[in-house]
Amino acid sequence: MPVSTILKTNRSSTPVPPRLRAEVEKILITDAELAQRIKILARGIERDFRGREMVVVSLLNGTVLFLADLIRHLNLPLRLDFIGVSSYGAGTESGDLVFTKELRLDVRGRDVLLVDDILDTGKTLSRVLPKLRALKPRRIKTCVLLDKPSRRVAKVKPDYVGFTIPDLFVIGYGLDFAERYRNLPFVGVLHPHIYKEVLEHAAKK
Ligand code: IMP
Ligand code: MG
Repeated sequence: MPVSTILKTNRSSTPVPPRLRAEVEKILITDAELAQRIKILARGIERDFRGREMVVVSLLNGTVLFLADLIRHLNLPLRLDFIGVSSYGAGTESGDLVFTKELRLDVRGRDVLLVDDILDTGKTLSRVLPKLRALKPRRIKTCVLLDKPSRRVAKVKPDYVGFTIPDLFVIGYGLDFAERYRNLPFVGVLHPHIYKEVLEHAAKK
């Protein structure tokens, strides 16, 4: 199992582009660091799957950028499908989960790689994994770009982790806050004042 790269909060980093300075406090992971790490992750996955065809099951919407970069480095036969999961509300916690898209490919007897953007409390994966297991795949390996182990409440252990990060709310490279910032090419830390305003507004309603 590949070890992840553990990141500290105060790492020297590239300056935030001027347009984003009011919203993004700092860059936690640059695009170059993402690219380098994802290549290594892909190599580890390739080695474990040994050329067997896999079904990549990716959770929408946060995985889009990570997934696109990961699978182009996977030199083995694969099929790709998505499960849509969404949590209600615009907060920073995963609330009640709703499935917005069901899996279409048949995974019975197959090797599955489940991909998510970030493992936080673990509630999402602990809802999705039993659903997948019920479809009787040969095995399921889980891969997340980011892991925030300090926030875990559900017992989930990912097989592949890109970066282990501190308890910070991060955005960019597919990750959103209230559906924004997914297009940023880096992983950044959101200024707390951005989500505090939204949370306070929501609490008043
Ligand atoms: P969990 O269910 O708490 O493990 O959280 C998983 C989901 O919550 C992820 O797929 C994200 O959509 C969201 N999430 C958790 N932490 C963050 C974050 O720091 N930034 C953006 N989204 C997050
Ligand atoms: Mg998500």
